[in-house]
Amino acid sequence: MNVGHVSSIEAVSHDTPLLVLPVHESEDETRDHKAEVLAPAGLSEVIAGTCPAEDLKHKPGESAFVYLKEGGGPRRVLLLGAGKRSEFDLEAARRFAGYAVRAAESVGVTGLTAYLGSDVSADAAQAATEGAVLAAWRFTEMKSPDEDDGPVDVSDFAVMVDPEDLDAAEAGVQVGDAVGRGANFARTLQSRPGNVATPSHLADEASRMAGECGLEVTVLGPEELEAERMYALLSVAQGSDQEPRLIVLRHNGGPDGEAPLVLVGKGLTFDAGGISIKPASGMEDMIFDMSGGAAVIGAMQAIGELKVPLNVVGIVPSSENLINGRAMKPGDIIRSREGKTIEVVNTDAEGRLILADALSYAQTFDPAVIVDCATLTGSIVIALGHHAAGVFSTDEDLVDELREAGDRSGERCWPLPLWDDYRRQIDSRVADLVNVGGRAGGSITAACFLKEFVGECRWAHLDIAGTAYGEGKLSYQRKGAAGFPTRLLVDWVRSRAG
Ligand code: BES
Ligand code: MN
Ligand code: ZN
Repeated sequence: MNVGHVSSIEAVSHDTPLLVLPVHESEDETRDHKAEVLAPAGLSEVIAGTCPAEDLKHKPGESAFVYLKEGGGPRRVLLLGAGKRSEFDLEAARRFAGYAVRAAESVGVTGLTAYLGSDVSADAAQAATEGAVLAAWRFTEMKSPDEDDGPVDVSDFAVMVDPEDLDAAEAGVQVGDAVGRGANFARTLQSRPGNVATPSHLADEASRMAGECGLEVTVLGPEELEAERMYALLSVAQGSDQEPRLIVLRHNGGPDGEAPLVLVGKGLTFDAGGISIKPASGMEDMIFDMSGGAAVIGAMQAIGELKVPLNVVGIVPSSENLINGRAMKPGDIIRSREGKTIEVVNTDAEGRLILADALSYAQTFDPAVIVDCATLTGSIVIALGHHAAGVFSTDEDLVDELREAGDRSGERCWPLPLWDDYRRQIDSRVADLVNVGGRAGGSITAACFLKEFVGECRWAHLDIAGTAYGEGKLSYQRKGAAGFPTRLLVDWVRSRAG
């Protein structure tokens, strides 16, 4: 998608198939809504005919088309509900732009401009651009062209702002574009099925992206993993014909030797459960079990493109969790890279195994902070549903940072405890740890398990099983891959750069 910014001075003559104007809810029903909506964009004199006040819907997503008098300028104007002005926050701007793109699709046009009103900040322009870029994304690569019955591909988007806000808009649009494309890259990787997006495929895609964005990349295969004694990752992978990979992406934006931020993402490209096999119904969703890894790869793309002035490392342990004659069995005891032994009572709790070795490996970078994200537990869906990820950390400042990044980016997270009372549930009779702590507090005991592998490092874990993919209810989403938490990660990393 091509993105840009234009001045509202040009509204009347701006050549676009679709100009979208926000209609905010007014406290005062007697106010002249038409003048309020059209006048700021200089359009009140050029509207053909009248626009009855009752056509001006203000609820988010409600809308009405109006048309200009003959000659140049926007081909059509959409008056799009934007809710209360006082509630028009970054997420509202994101959704507004999402609805605007859906409106373009509904009339079959590929370009649009959205006026954002007065006093537009760089953050608001960023959020609107994210909304548009995310909304326009579709996963079509596996469909034959003549079978594609979806909407047009919207390819051009501009934010329109008042002249004094043009500099802020320019900066915001550039960031929103990078973040949106990073999230869309994650969504494309998420959407590719297990027979396409194998661990080696993820590594190839990360390597290609790294070449394009100036990141360093290292990929560890079975021999290197063996040399690193990453037997927890290798044990999960031994049940499948696909070789595991550990993908390492490096963005050296900070001074040499400065401690990096390390992002770790679960890259389980298909989770059948192993010998502790999952039920057949809904198992196809387990192509999304690499969503954390996809988000880390997408975030690293955006971080590289935006030249964030920090050192950042992205690590993605990647494997399948299947069944063959060599597959890990319930009762097996394995040794992790860190040295702790793990009794595997359920082979379906594999994410924490591959993450254990990745988190241990992450420490070789002497990180300032490690943040991992993983579709780790079904139990986080029971706890928080689909509207927030769980965030786990013993570092309260880090939890605050991630919650604030979540609020700004629209990818929210909510804290759960890591108390020692829960830790006792993963004591093993025969090994150092057991990989499942029972049904009670399943997301917390999983996080307690990960905590055993981060040493003394500042660390937080995001459980994204409820948020990484879904029904696509938001205007800028579609059913399937959500790209979560690419935006959160980029926002957090950028916030650390000050
Ligand atoms: N990948 C799943 C978690 C998951 C569940 C992701 C639902 C997305 C949606 C994970 O590997 C898993 O199987 N977890 C088990 C753990 C259990 C065996 C302790 C679970 O949550 O049921
Ligand atoms: Mn599993
Ligand atoms: Zn899994």
